[in-house]
Amino acid sequence: MKLMFLGAPGAGKGTQAEVVSERYHIPAVSTGALLREAMANGTELGMKAKSYIDGGALVPDDVVIGIIKERLAADDMEGGFILDGFPRTVAQAKALDDMGIKMDGVISIEVEDDAIIRRLGGRRLCGKCGASYHIDYKPTAKEGVCDKCDGELVIRADDKPEVIKSRLVVYHDQTEPLKDFYAEKGVLKTVVGQEKIEDTTALTIAAIESIRG
Ligand code: AP5
Ligand code: MG
Repeated sequence: MKLMFLGAPGAGKGTQAEVVSERYHIPAVSTGALLREAMANGTELGMKAKSYIDGGALVPDDVVIGIIKERLAADDMEGGFILDGFPRTVAQAKALDDMGIKMDGVISIEVEDDAIIRRLGGRRLCGKCGASYHIDYKPTAKEGVCDKCDGELVIRADDKPEVIKSRLVVYHDQTEPLKDFYAEKGVLKTVVGQEKIEDTTALTIAAIESIRG
């Protein structure tokens, strides 16, 4: 099964991708996470990506397409995968077509901009293992400490209010048109993001089950 999550920054793509990955035993690939890993390792790619990400802009298509090509060629992708945060432009979607990859389902998680601002403002990540939390919606058992590995929680550099606004503009301008792109292919499913993570998960699973038929 080849699935894709579309949605604004903070819509819950990563949160749902994690649950779906565990449930269906297929790996989730987040271009954002791959880029942040490169940044943390201080690689050439990471240094190139940093200025775009920190400013809320998209990393150039050729760079991201190169990363995804390499990742999708790995052995663990053979049984299917979940794409989170790729493609984000029509050029990237066309590149995926050119790779001969046909998605079984594209799930767009719809969340209003004001809710996005609340979500990203309260997001916290483990600095050690990368697990994602929210101060109100998904709190850790002990404040500031990761439930999984006891690592210290940090705020993502691009979750500053002014950067969140830029990311939303970029989403509406460059990524939202992909809904039409995939609707025309007949693979688009829409999930209205709920205030509770489990409620969104239930709708997401229902959408996936309808794709599996
Ligand atoms: P990326 O890492 O993909 O970020 P994003 O798309 O901006 O999305 P986020 O990861 O911020 O949000 P999410 O939808 O995963 O939400 P989450 O589950 O964390 O990309 C970062 C940057 O990398 C981009 O800006 C760009 O520069 C670059 N990049 C990446 N891919 C690229 C590409 N293909 N091309 C070019 N550039 C690229 O949830 C958010 C918070 O809300 C969490 O705290 C969570 O706990 C909470 N939450 C989730 N669901 C709910 C719910 N239902 N109710 C309440 N709270 C919830
Ligand atoms: Mg994410």
